[in-house]
Amino acid sequence: MAKVTVIGAGNVGATCANVLAFNKIVETVVMLDVKQGVAEGKTIDMLQTAQTLGFETNILGVTNDYAATAGSDVVVVTSGIPRKPGMTREELIGTNAGIVKSVVSQALTHSPDAVFVIISNPMDTMTYLTLKAFGLPKNKVVGMGSLLDSARFRYYLSQTLQVNPVEIEALVIGGHSDTTMIPLKRLATYNGTPVASLLEDAALDKVIADTMTGGSTITNLVGTSAGYGPGAAGAYVTASIIHNYRRLIPSCVYLEGEYGQHDICIGVPAIIGSSGLESIVDLRLNDEEKALFEKSANAVRKTNAVLAEIGVL
Ligand SMILES: NC(=O)c1ccc[n+]([C@@H]2O[C@H](COP(=O)([O-])OP(=O)(O)OC[C@H]3O[C@@H](n4cnc5c(N)ncnc54)[C@H](O)[C@@H]3O)[C@@H](O)[C@H]2O)c1
Repeated sequence: MAKVTVIGAGNVGATCANVLAFNKIVETVVMLDVKQGVAEGKTIDMLQTAQTLGFETNILGVTNDYAATAGSDVVVVTSGIPRKPGMTREELIGTNAGIVKSVVSQALTHSPDAVFVIISNPMDTMTYLTLKAFGLPKNKVVGMGSLLDSARFRYYLSQTLQVNPVEIEALVIGGHSDTTMIPLKRLATYNGTPVASLLEDAALDKVIADTMTGGSTITNLVGTSAGYGPGAAGAYVTASIIHNYRRLIPSCVYLEGEYGQHDICIGVPAIIGSSGLESIVDLRLNDEEKALFEKSANAVRKTNAVLAEIGVL
């Protein structure tokens, strides 16, 4: 009987819980929020779709009641503030680092064997904080960001090529940041054909730029950050863990020499299964891609350094 806790019942967390329930990915989903009544209210709302949508998943909404989360196989962390138009993800660290540390600490007490899926921003640094603050094994902490960035890359490629996005394979690696994520144009394909041979350079460059600012585009339109994409992506990662699908998912994981980096959590292609991180896939980057990855890692390290400055690590 699989049980998943989603911490934070906002845009991202409630979507994640809803996708987990609607797609019958787990038997029980617990949604926890600090704001009195929010998780409970959204749970009632979701349960009132069960008959029309045809699912029988147990959903439980609680306010700060960590005992209700006990024995979770996966804990998805979405608590914290999202960015507003004009903000970077990195600017959220002052508020979110304390929140993430506190919720992980409480969730761990009741679910010591859970795999943690970290979504709160700045996600690479929140993943590193979760791993380091509690000395967790590296397989138990998986950050979600590059999967969403890859979905955006596929979306913009499909829009430009005017084709079905499901038939596009494309990966984004590196930090989950507007300026240093790395959409891998060399490896992007449409039905096996490299997209670089289907698009002019300028068109492909525009796809890359749109992908990198894909989150800001939504934030500027909506007034707050995306919810459906990240929530669904969190559920996708969770499903691979719960059902041991061993999907290749670009994920923020701890590196010990892979991709030339040590002591950092950053997006790389990873096999995600019942242990959480099962293995890291080496894409054999070319020199240009290696340089971009190093630049991205340096930016993540700069944000990681703030953790010590503000006294959370
Ligand atoms: N990694 C990604 O790809 C990605 C994508 C989008 C958003 N995000 C991040 O996810 C986070 C959530 O975004 P959102 O749009 O859902 O925000 P939101 O404001 O809609 O929801 C956040 C929820 O967290 C709750 N919360 C705050 N402190 C808490 C605590 N101590 N314990 C329990 N709950 C707490 C709030 O009450 C709120 O309901 C943000 O940090 C955002 O930047 C990440």
